[in-house]
Amino acid sequence: MSWWASAVGYEVYIRSFADSTGDGVGDFAGVTEHLEYLAWLGVDVVWVTPFYPSPQADFGYDVADYTGVDPLYGDLAEFDRFVGRADELGLRVMIDLVPNHTSSEHPWFKAALADPASPERDYYIFRPPGPGGGPPNNWRSHFGGPAWTFDEASGEYYLHLFLAVQPDLNWTNPAVRDAFDDILRFWMDRGVDGFRVDVAHALMKHPDLADNPQILPLDRAATPGQAMAAFDHVNDMGQASTREIYRRWKSLPGADEKALVGEVYVKDLALSASYLGDGGLDLSLFFALNRREWDPVAFVEEIRAWSEVSDNGFAWTMASHDENRPPTRFRGGDLGRARAFTLWTLFATLPGLPFVYQGEELGLEDGYVAPEDVQDPVGLAAYAEGRDPCRTPMPWKPDRHSGFTTGEPWLKSAPRRPEETIAAQRADPESHLHRFRRLLAVRRELAPLRTGGVEWLAAPAGVALVRVGQVLTVANATDVEAEVGLPPGGWSLEFETATGGDRVESGTVTVPPTTARIYQASPL
Ligand code: NOJ
Repeated sequence: MSWWASAVGYEVYIRSFADSTGDGVGDFAGVTEHLEYLAWLGVDVVWVTPFYPSPQADFGYDVADYTGVDPLYGDLAEFDRFVGRADELGLRVMIDLVPNHTSSEHPWFKAALADPASPERDYYIFRPPGPGGGPPNNWRSHFGGPAWTFDEASGEYYLHLFLAVQPDLNWTNPAVRDAFDDILRFWMDRGVDGFRVDVAHALMKHPDLADNPQILPLDRAATPGQAMAAFDHVNDMGQASTREIYRRWKSLPGADEKALVGEVYVKDLALSASYLGDGGLDLSLFFALNRREWDPVAFVEEIRAWSEVSDNGFAWTMASHDENRPPTRFRGGDLGRARAFTLWTLFATLPGLPFVYQGEELGLEDGYVAPEDVQDPVGLAAYAEGRDPCRTPMPWKPDRHSGFTTGEPWLKSAPRRPEETIAAQRADPESHLHRFRRLLAVRRELAPLRTGGVEWLAAPAGVALVRVGQVLTVANATDVEAEVGLPPGGWSLEFETATGGDRVESGTVTVPPTTARIYQASPL
C-alpha cells in the first residue's frame, strides 16, 4: 500500500509560517524550527508552497529557477536541513511544482523575447494577433483581463492564464517535457516524497486554441472571478492529453513511491477523477466545497458523490492559501468553526489524503487586511476576491505580531486574539487545537480497522452516516438535531466534536446539530 493511503497532510504557506531572520517573511529555518509542532499535531506529510527564486509577483507561483531556493526563504543547504529534520521526526515532505507557467524573469522567457528564432520561443505560446488585430482568442486571465499580452518587438501575443508576468509553457514541446523530467529528478534526489502540481488541469490547451464558449453576459465591471465564470472553459483547460504528462512523470525512476497530488481546480467530478489512476495522478485535491457559502445538504452530497467515484483518490481540503478560511465562509465564530470541524471529521474518516491548511487546526477565521495593505494581485484587482485574509501570519504566541516575526510582517493585518494562538491553545486541553489533534490521533489508531470500501448508509439530508470497515462516522452538518439509525451491533464512541455522546450506542441515536462522532464496532 502506498504511504499516502493513510496519511494526513499539512500545507505550509511558507511566507506566512515562521520568520527566523526578522525580515518579515517566513523561511525554511522557521519551518524547520516548528516541525516538532507538526509532529506533535500528528500530521504525516508537510507540503510547502513555492520557495524557488522568484520576483514574487504571485508570491512564488512565478518561478524564475526551478532548482533553487529564493534567498528570502534560505538556500539549498537550509532546504536539506529542513528535509533532514523532517526525516528525523518521521515527517514526509512534498513540494509545489509549478509547471503551467514560469515567471517572465525565467531565462527561458527572456531568451524567447530576445530572439523569436531562439529554441526557447517555442517553450511558450506565442501567436499572431487575431483576425480583428486583437488577442488570438477570447481566453481570460484568472487574475483579470485577457489571457494574452502583446509583445511589441515581434508583433505577437503570448499566452498567460494568470498574470502577464506568468507566461504559460508550451507542453506540446518535447524540450519542455525533458526539462521538467530533470526538475522532478533533481528534487526526488534531494529527498522529497511528493509533488503538489499547480494548475494540474490546464497544462495542455486545445490544439486549435479556439474561443471558449461564452455562457453568461460579461459586464465591463466584472471582477476577475465573474469574468472567468462567464465562459465554459473547454479549450483552455481540462484537456485529456494532459494525462500523458503525469503518466510520464510517474514512470521516472523512483517516482512510483512519490505522491503526485494535482491541483485539479475543476468542480466537475468526472473530469477531476479522469486524472486519477491511469490518468497518472495519485490524488486530486478536492475543490467541490471551495468558494461556496454554507449549504449542508449540498456539501454532504458532494462529499458522498466524490468519495463514491474514487474512494482513495481525493486529497480532501476545504481550506488553502487561495480562499477565505472555512469558519469565515461558514458564517463565522463558534458556529462557523463547528461547521468546518464537523465536515473535517468526515474527511478524516474517509480514505484519501486530507490536508490541514496552516491555522485550520486552531479554528482560525480570516485575518483582517485593510484595503491599503492588500498585497495579493487578485485583491488589488478586486478587494472582495483577494487572498490576503487567509494568508496572514501564523499566530504562534500572544506577542507582538503573534510571534511570527521580530520585524514587520510582509502582510499587515489586525492582531490575533491571545486565545487564537498556538501557545494559548496548547495550554488549554479543551481548545480547538487539542480536539483537532485528538481527531488525527483517532484516525491513526483506527486505521487498521478502516479496511474495505466506503459505505454511505441511509441518513437524513445534510447528515452523513459512513461506514468504512469497523469504523462508523456520523456527521450532522445541519442546524437541527438528527435521529440516525446505526447499523446492527454496538458502537463505541471514539471521538466527538463536542462532548455529550454515550460510551456505547446501538439502534437509533440523536445527534446534536453541527456535530460529528466516530464510532468503532464493539460487542453490545
Ligand atoms: C494556484 C495556486 O494555489 C495559486 O496561489 C496561484 O496563484 C495559481 N495557482 C497560479 O500559479
